[in-house]
Amino acid sequence: MINDLWYKNAIIYSLDLETFMDGNGDGCGDFEGLTRRLDYLDSLGIDTIWLAPFQPSPNRDNGYDISDFYGVDPRHGSSGDFVEFMNQANKRGMGVIIDLVVNHTSDKHPWFQKARRKDPRYYDWYIWSKKRPSNWNKGMVFPGVQKSTWTLDPKAHEYFYHRFYDFQPDLNMQNPEVRAEVRRILGYWLELGIAGFRVDAVPFILEESPLTAGKGAPYLHFDYLTELRQFLQWRSRDAVLLGEANVLPKQNMKYFGDEGDGIHMMFNFYVNQHLFYALAAADVRPLQKALHATRDIPETAQWGQFLRNHDELDLGRLTEAQRQAVFAAFGPKPEMQLYDRGIRRRLASMLSDRRRIELAYSIMFSLPGAPVIRYGDEIGMGEDLSLPEREAVRTVMQWSAEPNAGFSSARKPTHAVISSGPYGCEHVNVDAQRRDPGSLLNWMVKMIRLRKECPEIGWGLCTIIQTQTRGVLVLHFKWRDGELVTAHNFASEPQEVRFRIPGADDTVLVDLLGVTDAQPRRQGTYSITLDEYGHRWYRLGHAGYGLQHSRGVPIDKRRGP
Ligand code: GLC
Repeated sequence: MINDLWYKNAIIYSLDLETFMDGNGDGCGDFEGLTRRLDYLDSLGIDTIWLAPFQPSPNRDNGYDISDFYGVDPRHGSSGDFVEFMNQANKRGMGVIIDLVVNHTSDKHPWFQKARRKDPRYYDWYIWSKKRPSNWNKGMVFPGVQKSTWTLDPKAHEYFYHRFYDFQPDLNMQNPEVRAEVRRILGYWLELGIAGFRVDAVPFILEESPLTAGKGAPYLHFDYLTELRQFLQWRSRDAVLLGEANVLPKQNMKYFGDEGDGIHMMFNFYVNQHLFYALAAADVRPLQKALHATRDIPETAQWGQFLRNHDELDLGRLTEAQRQAVFAAFGPKPEMQLYDRGIRRRLASMLSDRRRIELAYSIMFSLPGAPVIRYGDEIGMGEDLSLPEREAVRTVMQWSAEPNAGFSSARKPTHAVISSGPYGCEHVNVDAQRRDPGSLLNWMVKMIRLRKECPEIGWGLCTIIQTQTRGVLVLHFKWRDGELVTAHNFASEPQEVRFRIPGADDTVLVDLLGVTDAQPRRQGTYSITLDEYGHRWYRLGHAGYGLQHSRGVPIDKRRGP
């Protein structure tokens, strides 16, 4: 089972072809460029790449407006380049997850073009209303930018439904023909060897039609996730679905399915937001509650734990006071905020202090789940607030101090390059950090290696250890005969923390990152001092036993949970 459930401990790296590496010098990132950078990702320790949409698209929403689900946009190369890339990735043992964006299509998609002309084959693939529905200006995902969810189509002379921008008409997921087409899309990419899908906007895919929905929250067809999963598994037994759904913990469980027969993985948005609150307020209690509320998931399910992604840092699940605390700490200026709920900044510029950045990443790696790293965050890239909306955090990867950050040899790349200021490519780039043993990049390599040596995190039972110190989070993981303890100090002052590990008796806590082992005072009671923003990882055992534990047992000899 260890190998079958590979996603339990995967190290995922998310990138957008467009901004990662331009191989042919036309200014836009492509498969050729990404393929050349696979050794970089491999040596970083990445085993799974999540690619943002790269299919043909008018590209008005970063590729999330697809006009052909069965190909590669010529900006990024050809289908041949995709297959070459897959071959090279797989050769290095890396899996590739791609986005599945089927809540909507681009309005330029031939299906919509036919539907708006009332072609009987395609009309019902979308959601239409002859009259303007009374809730036409409710439920927008991008408040402040998006004005409505129903828009009059000048060709059809009817209103069409769109959860997102008005150039992204929603597909009618209750139509069996649409579902059959989604299966074809899944089947197509699985046949090309991908390891799974990051399912975009899952709640909206499951929602009942807005035409039949009553008042209150719309009914969600969770059985559709089981249907998708079954199809996926028939075609590729170890492929996974990784869902994007920023919902409350109770709802989350429904996505995984009572029997673990729903989606395999979900991003843990709930923990993410409470983690940022803990960073802002040096108070871990709400984070502890969030971890507790999302702890018990089916055995074959897993969380994707992340810090930042390609969108705004969404704080919509915090209380108003908590949200304001995070805004004040990390996005105080109006231009840093977006959609009344989030912050459009990168991690490094928000946290600004190297110790705090390490703290955040060390926590992310030690949260129950599979860590998801956003490209550029491993070197501490910043944002460009002069760009609109979420574009601020989508500038090109900074490879070197050369023109265009070494991303492209074109005179003017299609995407912005941060070339000045403290986060400019002159100061922040891969080339310089590779040569500097003390760089963030080299620290990250070390942490990824450590994470891989601690399979307890992905497989084991996580217990939140109670302490009297509200700025410190202590977690305990147990899987088979391996036990791990991590301690993180969110406060800007050093903290002494005392805690008990049940059943630890007189066991030493072996420091996995340094040489400060912790001896028990009384049976199973420890007292440690953490520096400001300090982090520690320990394995329970005799001195010298620490890392060998996971190394000693060949991966496929370890039995499943
Ligand atoms: C998801 C994506 C976001 C996109 C939206 C519409 O939320 O993360 O970037 O705009 O879906 O597809």
